[in-house]
Amino acid sequence: MSRRYMIAGNWKMNNTAAEGVALIKDLKAQCGGCCCQNEKAPEVVVCPTFTTLSAVVAEASGTALKVGAQNIHWAENGAYTGEISGAMLKETGVTHVIIGHSERRQYFGETDETVNKRTKAALKHGLVAIVCIGETLEERASDKTEAVVERQVRAALADVTADDMKNVVLAYEPVWAIGTGMVATDEQAQAVHAFVRNLLKSMFKCPCVAENTRILYGGSMKPGNAAGLLAQPDIDGGLIGGASLKAADFLGIVKCAL
Ligand code: 13P
Repeated sequence: MSRRYMIAGNWKMNNTAAEGVALIKDLKAQCGGCCCQNEKAPEVVVCPTFTTLSAVVAEASGTALKVGAQNIHWAENGAYTGEISGAMLKETGVTHVIIGHSERRQYFGETDETVNKRTKAALKHGLVAIVCIGETLEERASDKTEAVVERQVRAALADVTADDMKNVVLAYEPVWAIGTGMVATDEQAQAVHAFVRNLLKSMFKCPCVAENTRILYGGSMKPGNAAGLLAQPDIDGGLIGGASLKAADFLGIVKCAL
């Protein structure tokens, strides 16, 4: 398997620019080589809030740490109060962007259709799109996990080509596991990841897409449970919320992917 692990920290609405810089300094001081250029090491990404991006990009420069944003609008510019364009993000130096996080779907009216538009905008601007999918507890309890995840994946990737998929990473984040401490079991997570990979097989002619697309797990991933999750054949990394806010915890997860 040629997929390289990705460990991405979603800082959500945490860390001012000064706090973000301090966290990057901590990561650099404590990483002991795991943030260094090394093809075998996981790709490590941090995703701060918009106003923290430039300072974090500057502090991370010269390391292998990559920086991503948490949203992107599909228009080039215009009357879209509170939104941000691809060009604006590129100007900060970010290389990645999280799209369709369940908190955006839940609280800010994000839909499958807008997730697709944002994904295509990211790809157009040469950003790696980390596209989030995942079911609620209610949907899981009523046996709808696969149907929900399939709908989300198909919609997010509408008009996305096999070539584009080189810059797409999927993140399976069961909503019930986010910030709750209720992590999916290794088996539960692996089952959905395998389902998504099979879905990619059926969606794209070239088997290379399913083989090469990284599918991250997110939802209460911590140093103590990361090894088991990352050992699953279809789990290619993690999208980490709470545990990405402390250097030792985040690096503890990164080390599980070495
Ligand atoms: P927690 O790791 O805090 O559960 O958050 C996961 C998440 O939402 C990452 O995007």
